[in-house]
Amino acid sequence: MYEELALFELAIWLGLSAWIANATPVLGGGGTPIDRGHVFRDGRRLLGDGKTIRGFIVGIFFGTITGAGQMLAAPFLQPLLAEYVIVTPEMEYVLFMQLPVAFLMSLGALVGDLVGSFIKRRVNVKSGDPSPVMDQLGFIIMALIFAFPLMQPEPIFVAILIITTFFIHWISNVIGYLAGLKKHPW
Ligand code: CTP
Ligand code: MG
Repeated sequence: MYEELALFELAIWLGLSAWIANATPVLGGGGTPIDRGHVFRDGRRLLGDGKTIRGFIVGIFFGTITGAGQMLAAPFLQPLLAEYVIVTPEMEYVLFMQLPVAFLMSLGALVGDLVGSFIKRRVNVKSGDPSPVMDQLGFIIMALIFAFPLMQPEPIFVAILIITTFFIHWISNVIGYLAGLKKHPW
């Protein structure tokens, strides 16, 4: 039981920088779109107005800052974790998050988000309209791929993270909608 709880907490820890990177553009985005209004050969926008340069930078900035905080916090959290579970090397590997990993996770999250928008525009989904599964999971999968050269967590953490992300992302969008930050609850 405690073992499972620790795995769950560490999976969240693993995804934190990517989550923050994915969630903060809505707070600081706006201004020039990354595609600068360009249309693709199908006549539709490359990415759309929902993907801005400022949002991209804001996301990477806060995601990386999160990683810095995690790096500072890890030595203090380690003994707390050790109080209720035997901390395995695999757990410590995830707990001691390194800054370059957080940066790559943030960059990957934002790039994954752009890839998602590119695909959405190609299949004629309007900016802000939902694309189930890809909206929820594209960013976290790309974040893990980007970080992979520097970090290869145990598959159990990746699996828990992906499943949890699906639900958290959905809940956070509902909250963003209720708070008036997003046009739709998805
Ligand atoms: N945002 C931004 N820059 C980014 C990503 C997001 O400015 N690189 C901001 C935009 O204001 C966007 C909001 O965050 O509307 C929500 O992000 P998201 O849901 O990813 O974009 P959508 O508006 O849904 O557009 P798309 O359909 O292309 O995903
Ligand atoms: Mg959206």
